[in-house]
Amino acid sequence: MYWSPDCVEGVVMAINGQFPGPTIRARAGDTLHIELTNKLHTEGVVIHWHGITQPGTYFYHGHYGMQRSAGLYGSLIVDVAKGEKEPFHYDGEFNLLLSDWWHSSVHEQGVGLYSKPFRWPGEPKSLLINGRGQYNCSLAARYSTSSSTSQCKLTGAEQCAPQVLRVLPNKTYRIRVASATALSALNLAIGNHKMVMVEADGNYVQPFEVDDMDIYSGESYSVLLTTNQAPSNNYWVSVSVRGREPHTPQGLAILNYLPTKASKLPESPPPVAPLWNNYTYSKLFTSKIVALMGSLPPPPTYYRQIVLLNTQNYINGFKKWAVNNISLSLPSTPYLGSIKYGLNGAFEQTSPPDDYPMDYDVMAQASNQNATYGSGVYMLKLNSTVDVILQNANMLEKNMSEIHPWHLHGHDFWVLGYGEGKFTAKDDRSFNLKNPPLRNTAVIFPYGWTALRFVADNPGVWAFHCHIEPHLHMGMGVVFAEGVHLVGKIPSEALTCGLTAKMFLSNNNH
Ligand code: C2O
Ligand code: CU
Repeated sequence: MYWSPDCVEGVVMAINGQFPGPTIRARAGDTLHIELTNKLHTEGVVIHWHGITQPGTYFYHGHYGMQRSAGLYGSLIVDVAKGEKEPFHYDGEFNLLLSDWWHSSVHEQGVGLYSKPFRWPGEPKSLLINGRGQYNCSLAARYSTSSSTSQCKLTGAEQCAPQVLRVLPNKTYRIRVASATALSALNLAIGNHKMVMVEADGNYVQPFEVDDMDIYSGESYSVLLTTNQAPSNNYWVSVSVRGREPHTPQGLAILNYLPTKASKLPESPPPVAPLWNNYTYSKLFTSKIVALMGSLPPPPTYYRQIVLLNTQNYINGFKKWAVNNISLSLPSTPYLGSIKYGLNGAFEQTSPPDDYPMDYDVMAQASNQNATYGSGVYMLKLNSTVDVILQNANMLEKNMSEIHPWHLHGHDFWVLGYGEGKFTAKDDRSFNLKNPPLRNTAVIFPYGWTALRFVADNPGVWAFHCHIEPHLHMGMGVVFAEGVHLVGKIPSEALTCGLTAKMFLSNNNH
C-alpha cells in the first residue's frame, strides 16, 4: 500500500493495513494461531518469528527475498506467564521498533545486487522509529546554524509524525527496543537520561547503566528509564548510524513529560552519537552484556566446533558473500521436506567444510577471490553442543572489513567471547563459561572473531545468517539441520514445490 514513513510517499509491504504490522502480544506458554493471507501479487511470503523461545521482546518479519527492506515487520512481545514476576520493577512501558528506509523499491534493490556490474542500494534515506521518520525536513533543524534542511512543520497526525513517549515525572519505564533494520547498525540515546540495560534478545542480563546503547539488526533489548529530569521540558530519543560512514540523518522521537505539551521542543539538540567507526566504544558496550546472576551456564565443553570464515567474493563476476568459500543459494525444494523424506537430489549431500584453509590471511585481500554456490547444510547431531566461531576477514577491497550481525533461527546461543584477528585453538581458554549472555544475534567486529555455543536440541532446519538483508541476499548464511525425522506434520504449503511436490503428485497417482 501507499504510505509515507518519512513524509515521502512510497509503497510499503504492510499487514492488515498497518505499517509496521500489528504488535502481537502474548503470555509465555500461549499458543498463537496466526492466519497469514498473501495479497502480494508478485511473490510468495514467509514470516519469521525472530528469536522466539522465551518471554521478552521480539519482532517478526518477512523472510522471502528482501521483504524486510520493503517494510514487512512488526513487534512480538511475550509477557511472563501468569503468576510469574520479572526480576525488575517498572511503572509503564514503551516499545520502539527501529528500521531503515529507502526510496527505491526492494525489487529494484534486489536486481541491483544481482547485477553485473554490481549496484549497491546505498545508505538508507531515513531511520524509522515505529515506522516514523522525516526525510525532507528535520525535527531538530532549529538547533543548527549550518543545516540546509528546514524545520519540520507537523501537526502530529501525519504518518511521519514522530513517536511521542508520554511519561510522568519520577517513574520508571521499561523501553523495549528491537532493530529490524535492513542494513544499519544503530546507537540509541535519550537526552539527559541514563538507561539501565535489563534484557537482551528475550533473556535477562545483569543490569548495568549506560548513556547510550548500540543495537545491531536482529537484536532486541529492554532498558529501564527513570524520569528524574526537569518535568517542564521534553527530551529527545535519538537513533544514529554506527559502523558505516553515515549519510542518513538521525531518527528522532520525543520523550514528553506530562503535563508539558508534546509540541514543546527540547531545550538542547539531540544527543550526538559516538563516532561511527569508534569500534573500541562498541566493543566496550558489548563486553558489558553478561547473563543475569543465577542464569543457567553453558555446557562446559563442545562436541563439534565449526569455524565460519566470512568473505566477500566473486562468482562469475557477480559480487557475493561467502562462508568458508560457499555462497548460500537456496535450492528450489524446501530443506525441511527434502531432508525428512530423504530426497537426496534436492541439494548437494556433501557437507560444507567445518574450517577454512590454515594459511588463509584474514587481514589481507584474498589471492583467489572466487567462491562457489552451495546450499550450505550442516547436519548436526541432535542434542549435541556445537561451537561456532565466526571469523571476519578483509573484504574484496583493501583495508576493508565491516560489522556483521549473525542471527540463528530456532535457538539461543551463548556468546562466549570476542577477539581480534585470526581465532586460534588457544583462544578457547579465554572463553567466558561463567556468565556468557544468551542471545539469538551476535556481531563480528571488523577483522575479529566471535565465539558462540548452542545445544542443537530443536528438531528442524534452521537458517544462521548475517541479518543485513542485502548480505543474506548475496549468500551470507548457512543452514543447520538436526533431528529432522522428529519433525511432525509439515504443512502442505511448505511441500508443494520442487521435488517434494513431484513426490506428492506421484503418490496421489497410486
Ligand atoms: Cu530476523 Cu532469518 O531473520
Ligand atoms: Cu553481513
